[in-house]
Amino acid sequence: MKQLTNATLLFALLICFTGCKEERETKVANNKNDEIEQKVDSLLALMTIEEKVGQMNQYNGFWDVTGPAPEGGNAEQKYEHLRKGWVGSMLSVRGVKEVRAVQKIAVEESRLGIPLIIGFDVIHGYKTLSPIPLAEAASWDLEAIKKSASVAAAEASASGINWTFGPMVDIARDARWGRVMEGAGEDPFLGSRIAEARVQGFQGDDLSATNTIAACAKHFAAYGFAEAGKEYNTVDIGTSTLHNIVLPPFKAAVKTGVRTLMNSFNELNGEPVTGSVYLQRDILKGEWGFDGFVVSDWASINEMINWGRAENKRDAAKIAVTGGSDMDMEGNVYIQELAQLVKDGVIKEALLDDAVSRILRVKYELGLFDDPYKYCDETREKETIGNPKHHEAVLDMAKKSIVLLKNENNLLPLKKEGQKIALIGALANDKSSPLGSWRIASDDETAVSLLEGMQAYKGNALKYVKGADVALEQAQFIQEVIINETDKSGFNEAIAAAKQSDVVVMVLGEHGFQTGEGRSRTNLQLPGVQQELLEAVFKANPNIVLVLNNGRPLAISWADKNIPAIVEAWQLGTQTGHAVAQVLYGDYNPSGKLPMSFPRNVGQVPIYYNYKNTGRPVDKDSNVFWSHYIDVEKTPLYPFGYGLSYSTFEYSDLKLNGTSFNIGSDVNVSVTIKNTSDVDGKEVVQLYIRDLVGSITRPVRELKGFELVALKAGEIKTINFTLNNETLGFYNNDGEFVVEPGNFKLFVGGSSTTILDMDFELKTN
Ligand code: NOJ
Repeated sequence: MKQLTNATLLFALLICFTGCKEERETKVANNKNDEIEQKVDSLLALMTIEEKVGQMNQYNGFWDVTGPAPEGGNAEQKYEHLRKGWVGSMLSVRGVKEVRAVQKIAVEESRLGIPLIIGFDVIHGYKTLSPIPLAEAASWDLEAIKKSASVAAAEASASGINWTFGPMVDIARDARWGRVMEGAGEDPFLGSRIAEARVQGFQGDDLSATNTIAACAKHFAAYGFAEAGKEYNTVDIGTSTLHNIVLPPFKAAVKTGVRTLMNSFNELNGEPVTGSVYLQRDILKGEWGFDGFVVSDWASINEMINWGRAENKRDAAKIAVTGGSDMDMEGNVYIQELAQLVKDGVIKEALLDDAVSRILRVKYELGLFDDPYKYCDETREKETIGNPKHHEAVLDMAKKSIVLLKNENNLLPLKKEGQKIALIGALANDKSSPLGSWRIASDDETAVSLLEGMQAYKGNALKYVKGADVALEQAQFIQEVIINETDKSGFNEAIAAAKQSDVVVMVLGEHGFQTGEGRSRTNLQLPGVQQELLEAVFKANPNIVLVLNNGRPLAISWADKNIPAIVEAWQLGTQTGHAVAQVLYGDYNPSGKLPMSFPRNVGQVPIYYNYKNTGRPVDKDSNVFWSHYIDVEKTPLYPFGYGLSYSTFEYSDLKLNGTSFNIGSDVNVSVTIKNTSDVDGKEVVQLYIRDLVGSITRPVRELKGFELVALKAGEIKTINFTLNNETLGFYNNDGEFVVEPGNFKLFVGGSSTTILDMDFELKTN
């Protein structure tokens, strides 16, 4: 910080104070933002072009790599650039010691001593891991999700980090895409509420507090629509899908105050989004008034060359900075090209000023200029990371994320005593896989396995047998994971154990590294020989509880038809085993609902509940000429919003405060829900609408409200919802938001297929 407190800065401040007098007088003296703006301007005035470019340059740290090795970046160069003030941020540097080391160079050895902002992929926890984000979304519990993000922020910030590359808010409809595990699923309304909760959780009420960090809504935009679910692929979608489905969660995050966004690897309708003026300048920074900064994705600026959009690095830098990418993540393009582009008069320095102001603004808001080492406190690091309270929080979140998919004859909950239970499947005894993908800062083998979770219940005789490995198609980063497509040598032992048991619990699914970045799959069935194992064990003892571990919807039609009880347990993080065991034994009553539709087979994807009706939605003439498949039903196996409980619920008395409403007036909805069982439980009450006729076609259903309701056995509650312009309107093909008169249907219930409905009309005033 030496130079910032010196006379140069004071002089610059003075100039600014005199120069900005008129403007200043119109503002409230103590306004913190005004203060920050003045400081940003003053600092900017001191910076050389190279130093400005430096702020726009982000380098990866020296250990954890989350992308392909960049050309031209080596440790020596990184240290040299830090000293020159040519680095604005580093990612994947972690731990107080390491962060302090790089911060010290930036602050104490560079000319202006501008602190670094330290980014990290805090995706579902830091050291203590929460469930993967898709699983958390299944809770529909916004408070719990917010809490989970705040626990992650507490641990990450104690480790020196002040910026997370989360939340990922990409809407995704294609389960083949490996990154569905990182988001909140297929729906823009649920996705928006979860985006808000996560931003609030990470950033808290005060960004300058030491236990909060800047959030980053990513990947802007439409990455979730990668063609055929293939990673990094082309995206070609229309205006309606872009505005009604893709953008809402980003807009919600911006409205909530998210301080950064990350753009993405994909192109959108022919334009790599990293260079998109339309998305980044017109919509984000223009229409939405976003004043934080945009970081590129890992070398996505360079990748515009491969896309065939930029001729070379110089061209790529020009397109990206013009498009509104403020920071270059580990691409080495800005640092190599931008200064010369300005000097050659190809781009205006004002573009740099805009980007740098945004970056400095966030650094000031974080309080980094007041104390660049504020996140570097060894005592806090020791006390905070792995704190027992964080374990409690992630256990709570894990239980809330579990979805009960099937429970024939109330096989669940399991009896606590006198039972012989066979626990089968490699994943049951795995302490790493449940941590899921994106867990760079956690330690392998630290999850509570389901075997350990079930061992905590002592009343039954429990026998564990592996049966078969999970087959991992491609082992990246994790050499220890077994790739085993064919070995059935463990089947006999599993069959024998099943025969001798009252109940069999089988844990099958994907390894934690089978989803996440770069892990697209074309097959959505249980990998390897797990399906064969399931069928072989079923022949020996059909009394099976199937516990699924997965980071995406799987196609499990056979299991749905044959297995009496199925529990969707995703990858639930550090406390996985305890969470699942408590649900299996009935100490926790599950209430999760699916945030993504489960297909019957991979051929159905992309499959989602808010589809368009088509011109031939039903078979009315008993011929083949209607919208369907001839080999499988067209409905999903399990729809969006679906999930069972050990309680049962009944909905009645759906009411509206009228049948005809003027556009602009509120539509009030109420419904009665009763817990008709003798078990206390929770239910996610969901409200959907259908706009029957529009100037462009509207989906058959759209989620527009939900509430997680706790009901004691036998309890009755009335739940209220309000629909307004925001929820009744939509974006037309010109990207304009419109609310149109006409007839609507609304549906309320416990899933997207609920049939309790009412009609109403919207009229022009
Ligand atoms: C690439 C991923 O797409 C992005 O989500 C992540 O934040 C960066 N790498 C940094 O690891």
